[in-house]
Amino acid sequence: KRPVGAPDKSLARKVTKVGVVGAGLMASQLALLFARRLQVPVVMTDLDQSRLDKGVAYVAAEVDKLLAKGRISADEANRLKALVTGSLTKDAFADADFVIEAVFEEMSVKQQVFAEVEEVVSAECVLATNTSSLSITEMAAKLRHPERVVGFHFFNPVAVLPLLEVIRGEKTSDETLATAFAVGKSLKKSSVLVADAPAFVVNRILTRFMGEVAKAVDEGTPIEVADHAMDELGLPMSPFVLLQLVGPAVALHVAETLHAAFPERFYVSENLGKLVAAGKSGFYGPDFQIDPE
Ligand code: CAA
Repeated sequence: KRPVGAPDKSLARKVTKVGVVGAGLMASQLALLFARRLQVPVVMTDLDQSRLDKGVAYVAAEVDKLLAKGRISADEANRLKALVTGSLTKDAFADADFVIEAVFEEMSVKQQVFAEVEEVVSAECVLATNTSSLSITEMAAKLRHPERVVGFHFFNPVAVLPLLEVIRGEKTSDETLATAFAVGKSLKKSSVLVADAPAFVVNRILTRFMGEVAKAVDEGTPIEVADHAMDELGLPMSPFVLLQLVGPAVALHVAETLHAAFPERFYVSENLGKLVAAGKSGFYGPDFQIDPE
């Protein structure tokens, strides 16, 4: 059964090589997922060698964990490590059929990245974005082939959470969308087709929820109390632990995008802003104490 609104799967193109723009945590999780589920070469790019090395090392460490748990054989572990490589130039994407970007959550950066990738790939290559809140239509607007762009939004931790939001931009072609759904299926994700609206569906709901928790804290409820209360409700993860998993900078960015689109409905927490400005990773652990001033 295909998701409501998804095009006929016979339009899907075969994917034999994947490019990942970025080698950060999200990008590295994606590289491993694509290599494991599609069994095709996956090449990551980033701005410098040390970031690339870190991404490739993350993949190798996660493969070793799968091997240690007995989820994959030693042969499979070696194969996966060989499939995932890093390159400093996007020329390595020349023969890729599917490129996904997971770089900084800023429209101009993502537009620039796609413009650079478009210089080297074939006219049919799909350009997927893992953006958590930005417009797919706007991201594609300046490209020669905007019909190849699709939203492909994963949730953290990528290896565990089954959900995949697939977002159709104004010009996304049926072929691109069908390929995205076919890839989603190979990745064993549960794909849903969602509208190209600010933060799509899940982050919109999650951000409203997180915003209300943050507001309660900004109004004086201690973080531990708010967090414990929501934990006892039986959520898979309490709100401030989730904030740490998602990353305060990403959470702030999504909240700001939603606040700009719907000022009445979305709250941008002052304390979250301070946390991000201070470069801290979360409210717990050594970063737990924040200066209210
Ligand atoms: N990477 C890979 N695997 C991970 C992992 C990670 N970061 N974290 C946990 N796992 C794996 C564990 O290894 C374990 O696997 P095995 O069963 O093979 O051993 C499995 O997940 C379960 O882990 P745990 O037993 O340690 O912990 P748990 O049962 O409490 O589950 C959790 C952990 C899956 C993270 C769960 O707490 C959860 O679902 N939390 C909510 C996460 C969530 O809401 N994410 C969405 C965030 S929004 C977002 O990402 C979108 C955006 O754009 C910002």
